[in-house]
Amino acid sequence: MRLTVIGTGYLGATHAACMAELGHEVVGLDTDAGRLAALRAGRAPFHEPRLAELIARHTASGRLRFTASYEEAGAFGQVHFVCVGTPQRRDAEGADLAYVESAFEAIARHARKGALLVGKSTVPVGTAARLADAHRVEIAWNPEFLREGFAVADTLAPDRLVLGVRTARAERLLRRVYGTVLAAGTPLVVTDFATAELVKTAANSFLATKISFINAMAEVCEASGGDVRRLAEALGYDERIGRAFLRAGVGFGGGCLPKDIRAFAHRAAELGVDLGFLREVDAINMRRRDRVIALAREACGGSVLGARVAVLGAAFKPDSDDIRDSPALNVAARLDLDGADVTVYDPEAMDNARKAFPLLGYALSAEEALRGAELVLHLTEWPQFRELDPWRAAALVRRPRIVDGRGALDARRWRAAGWWFRALGSPAQP
Ligand code: UGA
Repeated sequence: MRLTVIGTGYLGATHAACMAELGHEVVGLDTDAGRLAALRAGRAPFHEPRLAELIARHTASGRLRFTASYEEAGAFGQVHFVCVGTPQRRDAEGADLAYVESAFEAIARHARKGALLVGKSTVPVGTAARLADAHRVEIAWNPEFLREGFAVADTLAPDRLVLGVRTARAERLLRRVYGTVLAAGTPLVVTDFATAELVKTAANSFLATKISFINAMAEVCEASGGDVRRLAEALGYDERIGRAFLRAGVGFGGGCLPKDIRAFAHRAAELGVDLGFLREVDAINMRRRDRVIALAREACGGSVLGARVAVLGAAFKPDSDDIRDSPALNVAARLDLDGADVTVYDPEAMDNARKAFPLLGYALSAEEALRGAELVLHLTEWPQFRELDPWRAAALVRRPRIVDGRGALDARRWRAAGWWFRALGSPAQP
């Protein structure tokens, strides 16, 4: 089929490359000249495993092209996927729908007769119906559940497909688009617009709630001498609870979970439904960052003023160069404001971190960041940090003190190598 993908951020670039991989002819549209130039040259505009390879292969074969022209996209596509961002509004907690609205408006104006416009962006419930009323073209809603770091795998083999449709024709078209995925046995939920929109916000809210639940348990563990890692392990054996998303630590960040729970609570309140517990989920999450800062102060004898602090990690999670609402950089920037001498290292997110936080110090390797440090903060659990040798690391630092903000390091080894070691939610002493 001939598909277009409007917006080539994480979602759009991945969707476009994966649709080409499924055998479709795809045109990706973006108005950002730098991003277009990278994509046209067959390069991925951000770090995502396997994505660069797919983009290179399909731009070379001609199955995947990029344009800035809505006219060209409209003339080309049978189905148009809208994948633009819905950031948090500057003046409120709700979602900013300006990009979604202008993308729908522009593609609706240029679309061929009979084309289907499919929203994939995360939007407040009610948006699809409003857009369908505002434009003469047919609309469907098909939320996306991909995780950064697994975006290609999650798109080619999703754990479910959700289609919000108003007509059998829209369903038929989307079943054709996803024919290969459905043939592989992927569960399909066909539903109305409102439910399709809600599946996405409900899923992210549930995941955020799970993380904040275990982080609240970490607070109780810290107060009572319990160990949240063993607690999570024991809880996870109960299949009704499950092990996933029970890793306690400095909390969730990124471009999705934090803004989605705020937008959802905001939208629910507009509808007269009080989702106050999501504000609590948000508050627990932010308190974990405060806790790392409190531990940093404690480690440095009450104040971090003038202390050399090495921060391991800048991305909001491993296998990503995304620093949006990154707990690691938020902690680093706040310690810098408190007068600490902060040096950050991340395997992939250095360029993005430097641009967003130009006043922090940066190192070219973990070893360089550790050299002369009086305190080490482990804030993004890249595998290479887990593999650091605590004995060699101890020889590099000025004072062997570390806070494991992700509960990913082996406390016994680090303590055996002479480190003052603290992990969120674990006892101060073994
Ligand atoms: C999240 C959802 O997992 C995807 O299903 C969804 O499609 C996506 O948002 C989206 O809305 O686009 P993502 O933001 O890529 O995906 O990252 P996650 O893997 O969900 O992690 C989010 C944050 O939670 C990270 O900062 C991570 O470090 C943290 N986390 C995750 C924990 O602190 N503990 C855990 O046990 C799991």
